Amino acid sequence: ALAFIEMRRRIERQIDQRTTMLAGVSHDLRTILTRFKLELALLPEGPETEALRRDVDEMGRMVEGYLSFARGDSGETPAPTNIDTFLKEIGADAERTGAQTTVTFHGEPMVKVRPDAFRRCIANLVTNSARYADTIAIAGHRDHRWLTVTVDDDGPGIPADQREDVFKPFFRLDDARNVDEGGSGLGLAIARDIARSHGGEITLADSPLGGLRVTVRVPV
Ligand SMILES: Nc1ncnc2c1ncn2[C@@H]1O[C@H](COP(=O)(O)OP(=O)(O)OP(=O)(O)O)[C@@H](O)[C@H]1O
Ligand SMILES: [Mg+2]
Repeated sequence: ALAFIEMRRRIERQIDQRTTMLAGVSHDLRTILTRFKLELALLPEGPETEALRRDVDEMGRMVEGYLSFARGDSGETPAPTNIDTFLKEIGADAERTGAQTTVTFHGEPMVKVRPDAFRRCIANLVTNSARYADTIAIAGHRDHRWLTVTVDDDGPGIPADQREDVFKPFFRLDDARNVDEGGSGLGLAIARDIARSHGGEITLADSPLGGLRVTVRVPV
């Protein structure tokens, strides 16, 4: 038993060190990226600078992702949030990236969540669907105990035997299906972390649309 406790301490120390290092690297990168953005703003507009700007923006989002993961997303105060409005905003963002998106909501929409973190959680799921599918259905449902949000898509889905693995940081399914620019494999890990920090959970299933169904459930 003592050996086991010692092993657990060693693993915890290692995870701690890795998180600290990830936070440090992300922080340094963000500093340089900020400078980069300022320099880009001074260049004349054109297709080349437009492409550079998109890349810098994407890097910025990745770095923010690493930072929020390393941070564990704590610190934000829970506030009553209109989840109906909130889902419609996320749906509109997905629409803009070209995915056909519907949003429905049933029940009393005001729920106490940590708004930025919860938005990141749902947005990560919808961004995934937008990457792999053409059609997305976002549905919110609130009853006396739970807020349930499902994100359905008509993409390739995830085989049942890999539905645990995809929550591991940096885990991505085969590159062949990742048609456009690659992500970092952190989206689902972050989303699950946020759901759990709200006392809830995320699960994956087959979608009636033919692709993946992701269900987020948090107590209200
Ligand atoms: N809606 C989906 N349909 C099909 N496969 C999915 C879907 N969502 C996630 N996946 C698979 O799960 C993997 C992990 O997803 P996750 O969001 O954690 O990482 P990512 O999207 O690859 O990168 P990041 O979110 O960090 O930009 C993806 O690489 C993809 O293979
Ligand atoms: Mg993702």
